[in-house]
Parts: sequence; C-alpha cells; structure tokens
Amino acid sequence: MTLPVKVKIVEVGPRDGLQNEKQLIPVATRVELIHKLAEAGISVIEAGSFVSPKWVPQMADSDKVMAQLNRKDKVSYPVLTPNMKGLEGAIAANAEEVAIFGAASESFSKKNINCSIDESLERFIPVCESAMAKGIRVRGYISCVLGCPYEGEIDPGTVVNVAEKLLQMGCYEISLGDTIGVGTPEKAKQLLEVVATKVDMNRLAIHFHDTYGQALANIYACLELGVSVVDSSVAGLGGCPYAAGASGNVATEDVIYMLDGLGIETGIDLNKLIETSWYISEQLQRQPASKVALATKRSS
Ligand code: HMG
Ligand code: MG
Repeated sequence: MTLPVKVKIVEVGPRDGLQNEKQLIPVATRVELIHKLAEAGISVIEAGSFVSPKWVPQMADSDKVMAQLNRKDKVSYPVLTPNMKGLEGAIAANAEEVAIFGAASESFSKKNINCSIDESLERFIPVCESAMAKGIRVRGYISCVLGCPYEGEIDPGTVVNVAEKLLQMGCYEISLGDTIGVGTPEKAKQLLEVVATKVDMNRLAIHFHDTYGQALANIYACLELGVSVVDSSVAGLGGCPYAAGASGNVATEDVIYMLDGLGIETGIDLNKLIETSWYISEQLQRQPASKVALATKRSS
C-alpha cells in the first residue's frame, strides 16, 4: 500500500457547509470566506449552487457571490447545477467549472432533486454537453454511496452504474459521497475497489460527512488504495438539507493536519486555514467542529 505523494483538496464549505445553516449568510461573508480559503492555498473551492431558492434558500444569490469574487489564477470556483436552468445561471456568472449531482439511492434522488436516478441522468446529459461546448469542466457527484437515510444499505453496483454514466457524459472527476457519514474504513475500501474496476482511480474523489466520526479513518483507508482527491469543509461545516441527520463534512483542517503528518503535499497553509475556520465560526456564532482548530486555539 503506497500513499499518494500529493492530494488535491476540494473545499466544499461555502457550498455544502453553508447550504445547511439555519441562518442566511450575507453575500459579503460568503465572498470573504472564499477569499480566505484561496489565500490559504486551496485550489478548488465550491462557491455556491444554482439550484431552486425555494429548495435551498441558503444558496440564493450565488450569482452575486460569483460576481464579487476576486478570482485567482489557478483556483477553480465550481458551482452546483442540477439542470439546464442552473447551468444557464452558472454560464451567466462566468463559472469555469460546474458540478452535477446524482445519487445511488432512488429515495434520496427524489427528495434531493425531485426525480428518479434515471431521470436525473437524462437531465444531466444536456447540462454536460452545453457546459463542455463552452469549455466549462463538469464534475459529477454521487450521493449515498455507503448508505441512505431512507433506504439504508446501498448496492455498490448502483454506484458503479451511475459513476460510469457520469463519466460517459464527460465528467472529469466523480466524487463519491457518504452523505450521512455511515461508512467505515473496510466498507469504504470495498466500495472504492469495486468502483475502481470501472473508473480510473485518478478520476475518483471521496466526500465523507463525519456524522459517526469515521471520516478521517475512511479517508486514510481510501488513500491507501491510491485515491488522491478529497472533499472537505473548513470548520467541519455542512450537511444536506435533504438527508435527515446528516452532519458536517470532515473538517479541512483535520484532513490537512493528517496529510501534513503523513508527509503528503497539499500546498495548503494549515495556520491560515485555522484562522479561516475561526473566522467563519465567529460569523456563525459557534465553535468550529474541527478538533485541530479547537486544539490549536487552546494551546495558543
Ligand atoms: P423542481 O421543483 O422539480 O423543478 O425542482 P421544476 O423544473 O419543476 O421547476 C420548479 C420551479 O423551480 C420553477 O420556478 C423553476 O423555474 C425553478 P417557478 O416557475 O415555480 O417559479 N427552478 C430553478 N430555479 C433556480 N435554479 C434552478 C432551477 N430549476 C428549477 N436550477 C430542482 C428540481 C433540481 C430544481 C430542485 O429539486 C433543487 O433545486 N434541488 C437542489 C437540492 C440541493 O441543492 N441539495 C443540496 C446539494 S446536493 C448535496 O449536498 C450532496 C453532495 O454534497 C454530495 C453528498 O454529500 O452526498 C453534493
Ligand atoms: Mg455533501
């Protein structure tokens, strides 16, 4: 088992994190958070979602967020686009990367995007075609890969099937989402091994929510299989409004602390990241969910 030399972090806090907050976060705060994350050296930062504001009010004004960003060269600011209307918004906002998001569970697909898995895949085809025709990169998400809040166990075969379809449509990367954080290391490995029989490992990313405190262990297990793209969220913000009980993503600071300890390169400055974690936590008037952010504050 050889660990990767380098890992790419996909920071999802400004999207997966803030989409789940009870309060609406002002555009200026969302923009400031993204700027601070870029300043800390993160090269992919999800900036928002072009979804229905009736479904996810927290992501309304993602166009304003995009317009106010001082975009850095070499930093990508993807946004979620569930359908053509979302893509049109993303194009108008000059997005250079978008993400489509499907699921391996029929019930979750219905609750999250109001259609079946097959219908969602049909819907994604024109989104991918139109995006790629404009030179916009498309990332694909699959939710509930290790369990569903409505259906329980998920057949890995369904994950493989959806992953292959997303790849055929042109997604450059597939992120495997443990939406409710129920996975454990051996199960995560087994799933990754099965998916990797059909999808090249270097096109796969892992996206763990930390509901059961398993995320870091799961990430380490997957790194051992050679995955080198990890989604995470500063301060451990996050959850999914359509997955009851889903808590935040694994905290980016905790992932970076572990990767630094393993000598794996990320290009990210842990101290700046911790400052950013405290910045957003203060805006939200609570403590970070990151153990590393809490430990460094206590010892300083
Ligand atoms: P729908 O109600 O079936 O859509 O929602 P519709 O096409 O029937 O249209 C209904 C209304 O919505 C219309 O407006 C449309 O214009 C509007 P009206 O005529 O009633 O005024 N509409 C839109 N407005 C803005 N942007 C759009 C858009 N599309 C339609 N793109 C829809 C279907 C997909 C839109 C809805 O279900 C939705 O917005 N869902 C988003 C849910 C979401 O964002 N969930 C969280 C992200 S996924 C996640 O967190 C998991 C992940 O992190 C990985 C993991 O952890 O597993 C990625
Ligand atoms: Mg998520």
